[in-house]
Amino acid sequence: MRIQIAFGVLVVLAAPAHAAQGVPDPSTDREFSAKLSVCNECHGANGVRRNAIIPVIGGQPENYLLKQLHDFERGDRHDEVMPWMAKTLTPQELGIAAAYFAKQRWPARSAAAASTPPPPGIAVCQACHAADFLGARQADGMAAPRLAGQGYEYLVEAMRRFAEGERKNNAIMTNMMAAMSPAERDAIARYLSGL
Ligand code: HEC
Ligand code: HEC
Repeated sequence: MRIQIAFGVLVVLAAPAHAAQGVPDPSTDREFSAKLSVCNECHGANGVRRNAIIPVIGGQPENYLLKQLHDFERGDRHDEVMPWMAKTLTPQELGIAAAYFAKQRWPARSAAAASTPPPPGIAVCQACHAADFLGARQADGMAAPRLAGQGYEYLVEAMRRFAEGERKNNAIMTNMMAAMSPAERDAIARYLSGL
């Protein structure tokens, strides 16, 4: 099923990027708008993601999204699907896609999410991800992403990938996650997803 979805998506995205004449505008450029709607197939236009391991991207800081797209494209961040997605957009389209998703609203907190007391070790995360975990601009101008209300399954897997060196696109995150036990990471992921 997953392969089929990915294949269908690739066929749509494999349409040749049309010669950039001016800046593509998703509201008037049908081909570009079709490419962005493919993103929503998985990431969900209203935060309704295709499955729990897919992150919410609507409402993340624009330069965080753009960095991730570049990292996927260059092979600095691995995934089965996302490198292909990033490669089918022109550099200009990557910028517009990041701006487009950054402007979307983060989905409302689900009523089912239960809030739990903050787990040990979480205070250090607030130094970069902000006290409310809504993400924040760092000294180098890049943004640390929003973690509050991100899906538990995605968070715990992202933290594991940093810890085990599968995701290497930020050395500080890799080192910090490697220093934590799986149980500590699990408790933090649960807490953050309920915010
Ligand atoms: C077939 C499903 C699928 C499609 C289609 C898809 N994505 Fe993704 N995307 C994913 C998954 C899964 C991840 C998480 C990868 C990981 O775990 O590292 C992801 C991650 C991302 C991230 C990183 C988010 C974060 O919090 O770090 C960005 C940005 C992103 N996708 C943008 C896009 C854009 C833009 C498109 C359309 C061009 C798109 N995606 C299409 C499945 C998809
Ligand atoms: C020194 C600053 C800093 C600290 C401290 C920090 N982070 Fe991060 N974190 C970042 C940055 C920057 C990124 C984006 C890295 C990238 O470019 O992919 C990130 C990414 C993440 C991601 C990936 C989110 C996504 O959407 O894929 C998770 C999860 C995360 N951090 C959790 C934590 C947790 C939990 C802690 C505390 C134990 C923590 N971070 C502490 C800076 C920090």
